[in-house]
Amino acid sequence: MTLDTKHIDWSERYELGIPEVDLQHHYFADLINRLLEELGTADASYQKRLIRELDAYARFHFISEENLMFRAGYPQLETHARHHFALIDELNVRETRFASGQISATDITDFLIKWFLGHTAHEDRSFAEFLHGDTSA
Ligand SMILES: [Fe+2]
Ligand SMILES: [Fe+2]
Repeated sequence: MTLDTKHIDWSERYELGIPEVDLQHHYFADLINRLLEELGTADASYQKRLIRELDAYARFHFISEENLMFRAGYPQLETHARHHFALIDELNVRETRFASGQISATDITDFLIKWFLGHTAHEDRSFAEFLHGDTSA
């Protein structure tokens, strides 16, 4: 795991074996890659659009994932949903700071990569293990 990443290469190791979640995570990685490529050089209004698109997709994905957890009776749903809330909250704080020039594009993209490698590729796996009946985790 490194924050030097300039691109997230989607690979099998990110797959959780839940098709709709994997599809959404893959698209989320694509959106992060777009920000990695374009956020640093975009003009202010396009920067705002890029971040808004990612924010909207993250919110959609979180609700979708939480509903899947709800249907499956996942006991950690509330804790997991709190993590989702904290990520959106943190994104919004950074978005505001970025818009006012207090932080750089890299501060946003580093945060997104950390989010992807930490939450998406790691914390979400606990739900996959629950869903697949793996009690050894
Ligand atoms: Fe997720
Ligand atoms: Fe999640």
